[in-house]
Amino acid sequence: MIRFTFAVFLLALGYLVCVEGNPCCSEPCQNRGVCTAMGTDKYECDCTRTGFFGPNCTTPEFLTWVKVSLKPSPNAVHYILTHFKGFWNIINNISFLRDAIMRYVLTSRSHLIDSPPTFNVDYGYKSWEAYSNLSYYTRSLPPVPEDCPTPMGVEGKKELPDAKVLAEKLLMRRQFIPDPQGTSLMFAFFAQHFTHQFFKSDMKRGPAFIQAKGHGVDLNHIYGETLDRQHKLRLFKDGKLKYQVLEGEIYPPTVKEVGVEMHYPPHVPDSHRFAVGHEAFGLVPGLMMYATIWLREHNRVCDVLKEVHPDWDDERLFQTTRLILIGETIKIVIEDYVQHLSGYNFKLKFDPELLFNQRFQYQNRISSEFNTLYHWHPLMPDSFHIEEKDYSYKQFVFNTSVVTEHGINNLVESFTKQIAGRVRAVCTNCCRKHSD
Ligand code: HEM
Ligand SMILES: *[C@@H]1O[C@H](CO)[C@@H](O)[C@H](O)[C@H]1NC(C)=O
Ligand SMILES: *[C@@H]1O[C@H](CO)[C@@H](O)[C@H](O)[C@H]1NC(C)=O
Ligand SMILES: *[C@@H]1O[C@H](CO)[C@@H](O)[C@H](O)[C@H]1NC(C)=O
Ligand SMILES: *[C@@H]1O[C@H](CO)[C@@H](O)[C@H](O)[C@H]1NC(C)=O
Repeated sequence: MIRFTFAVFLLALGYLVCVEGNPCCSEPCQNRGVCTAMGTDKYECDCTRTGFFGPNCTTPEFLTWVKVSLKPSPNAVHYILTHFKGFWNIINNISFLRDAIMRYVLTSRSHLIDSPPTFNVDYGYKSWEAYSNLSYYTRSLPPVPEDCPTPMGVEGKKELPDAKVLAEKLLMRRQFIPDPQGTSLMFAFFAQHFTHQFFKSDMKRGPAFIQAKGHGVDLNHIYGETLDRQHKLRLFKDGKLKYQVLEGEIYPPTVKEVGVEMHYPPHVPDSHRFAVGHEAFGLVPGLMMYATIWLREHNRVCDVLKEVHPDWDDERLFQTTRLILIGETIKIVIEDYVQHLSGYNFKLKFDPELLFNQRFQYQNRISSEFNTLYHWHPLMPDSFHIEEKDYSYKQFVFNTSVVTEHGINNLVESFTKQIAGRVRAVCTNCCRKHSD
């Protein structure tokens, strides 16, 4: 009996020891309340502007209660938006309704994001450093405090599994599953090309740091991240970018010609080392295809602008064209790319004026979580089918000849025909609910 009591005592002690440490490790604050430890056994939740109160920010304020009760669930909203095609065809045709819904889409989405940005890998509380140091990816969720019983806080194993094992178990796709929405490789490479302007980790500092200090759609993947790189890529005539002509077609210039750093393995000959804004775009012919398309587009817009403004100098033509390409990119992203991803029958609209009478903030900060979730490698097929040829990965990567041999038109045609994989891993049961 005594021994039993002693054992219980030890267990209780163990429990106390376990609970001691940082009480925020169990993430007691709900509804985006912020936890602050008060010594080793107490904590406080700051529920400011969460719409909730109480020690754990769990009790809704009256207005929150009304809103929560009246608001349709996200699943219901999604269902409505992805069904009733006839209804949406009418809405899409009535411009003030379409505008009002699009305005709501933009403002409600932006309210989901903390702004100014909050945490990063080194700061689980708000600080000037976390706000102002643009070298960090921000974090939507604070990092788990250092002094927690387990790496995940209080749950899970004492030690995290090896990252390699985790990646293989969770992320690696074994079997190609064609995307049920019919997504093409043209879309997949667009995703990769577009997102690499802001998912650009600084491997010297580590994966918590970002090289793309613009944190958004600044087209640094076309123009270079630094002014030095931009200048090397520019022709300094009529606002244009440097280019070369191969068999009558326009392609990016070579590394040798412009002298910017690009990542190519030693076996790639000088004549095939194309130079573009992003150092790594020689890796995938799909990326080099888009880089070539945007290079051509930049120089085309320069011609149009010069025609309208013959008095503008090179600098003004270049800068204005860059702004125009940013606008074109965002239009494509909203009206084609996000439209496809969403599956909505509501027709999304790119129109900056929708927000001119709204309170809306335009700052952006890229978060680590966003980057992690955007590793859409399962979109990639087992091999790449271009015209009559089939390329294995070995033949495809770092092979810019694929771009010049086939030419942009044929690449676009082939990549548009080939179906991409679905992103979500398919486990036997756990994903079934979400896929409906
Ligand atoms: C043949 C196709 C592709 C190849 C060979 C490839 C290869 C790679 C490699 C080697 C990395 C660096 C990994 C590391 O640093 O640990 C990477 C990162 C990444 N990839 Fe891909 N990838 C491909 C397609 C895609 C596609 C279609 C997407 C779609 C969005 C994508 C999204 C990303 C993202 C978001 C990162 C992280 C970038 C960063 O943080 O700097 N990749 N990929
Ligand atoms: C707050 O959360 C803690 C830890 O999860 C729990 O023990 C406590 O009962 C909660 N308090 C209230 C008032 O809900
Ligand atoms: C209404 O929408 C349909 C289908 O989206 C379209 O074909 C038609 O031209 C539109 N009508 C008007 C008046 O805009
Ligand atoms: C941002 O933080 C990193 C890591 O602590 C540091 O090396 C760098 O100097 C900081 N940058 C600025 C501009 O303060
Ligand atoms: C690269 O692509 C070219 C052109 O399609 C092809 O002929 C060549 O075999 C590829 N190179 C490698 C190393 O596979």
